[in-house]
Parts: sequence; C-alpha cells; structure tokens
Amino acid sequence: MKAIIYTNYGSPDVLKLKDVDKPAPKDNEVLIKVHAASINAADWHMLTADIFLIRLMGMGLFKPKNTILGADIAGCVEAVGRNVKQFRPGDAVFGDVFGYGSGSFAEYVSVPESALVLKPSNVSFEEAATAPLAAVTALQGLRDEGHIQPGQKVLINGASGGVGTFAVQIAKSFGAEVTAVCSTKNLEMARSLGADHVIDYKKEDFTRNGQQYGLILAVNGYHPISAYKRALTPKGIYVMAGGSPAQMFQSLLLGPWMSEKGGRKMGALSAKTNQKDLVTIKDLLEAGKIVPVIDKRYSLNEVPEALRYLGAGHARGKVVITVERNNQT
Ligand SMILES: NC(=O)c1ccc[n+]([C@@H]2O[C@H](COP(=O)([O-])OP(=O)(O)OC[C@H]3O[C@@H](n4cnc5c(N)ncnc54)[C@H](OP(=O)(O)O)[C@@H]3O)[C@@H](O)[C@H]2O)c1
Repeated sequence: MKAIIYTNYGSPDVLKLKDVDKPAPKDNEVLIKVHAASINAADWHMLTADIFLIRLMGMGLFKPKNTILGADIAGCVEAVGRNVKQFRPGDAVFGDVFGYGSGSFAEYVSVPESALVLKPSNVSFEEAATAPLAAVTALQGLRDEGHIQPGQKVLINGASGGVGTFAVQIAKSFGAEVTAVCSTKNLEMARSLGADHVIDYKKEDFTRNGQQYGLILAVNGYHPISAYKRALTPKGIYVMAGGSPAQMFQSLLLGPWMSEKGGRKMGALSAKTNQKDLVTIKDLLEAGKIVPVIDKRYSLNEVPEALRYLGAGHARGKVVITVERNNQT
C-alpha cells in the first residue's frame, strides 16, 4: 500500500510517499481502507518534535518510533480479527487512531475496534474525518474540564481553527451563550456556526473590555494567565487547550497556584479520545448540531503541503486528506 513515511523528525520535507506492507488485522483489530484523514496540530508536533517532551513520552528520543502520521480516519472496514464484535466488512467507520500509534496518512490502517464508531450516513467520509480529535477535544474541554452549563456565558479564544469551529457549535448544543474570538476574516463564519457574539482579536482585547465569562476555552493565540483570570466571573473556569507555548506553560505551571478554593479555576486540558465520546460526536453530526468546516482538501501525496499549510497557523476549520476519491468521499 502507499503511505506517507517519515524516519526522522523535521520539517514536512522529510515526509515521503512510499510503498509499504499492507497491515494484517490482529485478533482484536479492524483493517480499514482509508477514504479520508485530516490534519491536526498533533501531527505537526509529532513531525517536528517542536515540543521536546514528545521525545521523552515514548515517541522516540532521536527518531520517531511510529513512521506514519495521521490521527483522524474515515473509511470502510475491509477485514476484522476474530475477536472483533462491533464491526463487519463493508461498515463505514470513523475514529481517532492517535492512541494506537497514528497511521491514517496511508491507504490502510489496522486498529483495535475501540478506536472507531460507525460513520453517520448524512456526512461524507471527508466530513467525518475532520471530527474525531478536534471535536472530542472541544467536547472534553467544555464538558469535562469546563463543566459547561445552559445559559452560561462561554468564550472561545481561537474559534476559527479545527478545535475552535467545533467548540463554538458544541457550546451552542449545550445551550450556552457563546462569544467567539477570531480575526476579521473569520467573524462571519463564527456567526454562521452559531456564535452569539464575535470579537475581532485584531481590534479588541477581550481581557480588557470589562466583560466576564463563566467559562473560557483557550484554543489558540496568547494572553497571560492573569488576563484570562480577570475575564472570569467569580466562580468562572478557564480551560487551556492550546495556543502559544507560553500560554501552555503558564497554565500548566501557574494554573494550580492561581485557582481559588470555591472560586475561579485555572486548568489545562489533555484530551484523550474514547469510544463513548466518539459516539457523542457521531450523534451531534447525525443531528446536524455540528457541521464540519473544511478549509482545504489535499491528496495523500500532498500531505507535506497540507502540513505546511496547517503549520502556518491560519487554517479555517479543518484540512482534509482525501485518500480514496469516490462519490461517497
Ligand atoms: N490540550 C489538548 O488535548 C489538545 C488537543 C487538540 C489540540 N490542541 C491544541 O489546540 C490548539 C489549536 O488546535 P487547532 O486544531 O484548532 O489549530 P488550528 O486549526 O491550526 O488553528 C488555526 C486557527 O487559529 C487561529 N488563530 C491564530 N492566531 C490566533 C490568535 N492570536 N487569536 C485567536 N485565534 C488565532 C487562526 O485564525 P486567524 O487565521 O484568523 O489568525 C486559525 O483559524 C493547538 O495548539 C493544538 O496543539 C490541544
């Protein structure tokens, strides 16, 4: 099969399209013919090892252990191992294979069935491939860390990227009053996703306008953690999902010290996809409560270009890799 391979950390230039052995499913695994994948910041970090901790987290100190990137996957089951209970050949599925060593930038992937759920019939393979990692991150940030409530004032900083476009829609599905922070060119899109209010980060600093929010999900950009705290209501919760390295380190190191007993909470998210949350995302897709925003589509041999585009930091929604082009893709 064809796959995009990397054997050294580096820029997208180190990625090569190669012929490699097609995987065979183990007893608990499902072999999927990949129709579409999508790109995440996680792929960028795994490629470049720009966060040094990646090398220490068992991903390979000097070179990557797993040589095929790609977390999000949508495709058709080609074969199943003898202990697989939930899927049959021919089923259309989608899921997140990051926790199983990645590998969706390839024609086939074999993973345990717990990485997958059935694809809703009202979304294409490309649309389904946008959702697993980014939408589950948004869900876990808002629901599990943020304890989102109906009617609550929720602010999403970095609302126009992969995680942010899902976060706006998921927050609305919980009945929150959503403020989306993005740049001028994305204000209209944020409104169309359901945001009640939009703030142009190029013109206004939401941490200095006197407004306070019950929940802030920081997905992109940078503000000092003290500024986020200022923009919280007295019992408000700040959840850092991503953004600049300074934003991440401040939340991890200072967040626990700055949280108040019975008051404001300053936390960080470490999302982990699981099948239950994938089912929640499937239900939201099926109900039309979340609609994926696809910025660009690339073919498998264009993965380096797609990663360069994402790495520039201005993707609008999700960047998709179309692996198998057909009328259902
Ligand atoms: N904690 C976790 O478990 C977890 C899980 C998944 C992802 N993440 C992290 O979450 C972050 C976002 O992921 P993503 O997939 O959404 O990335 P992305 O799709 O690459 O985000 C791009 C978007 O960010 C916006 N942006 C850039 N600078 C901004 C700023 N200063 N203020 C507000 N928005 C800004 C861009 O809008 P403009 O073009 O208008 O600037 C663009 O639409 C990454 O750091 C990723 O590592 C964390």
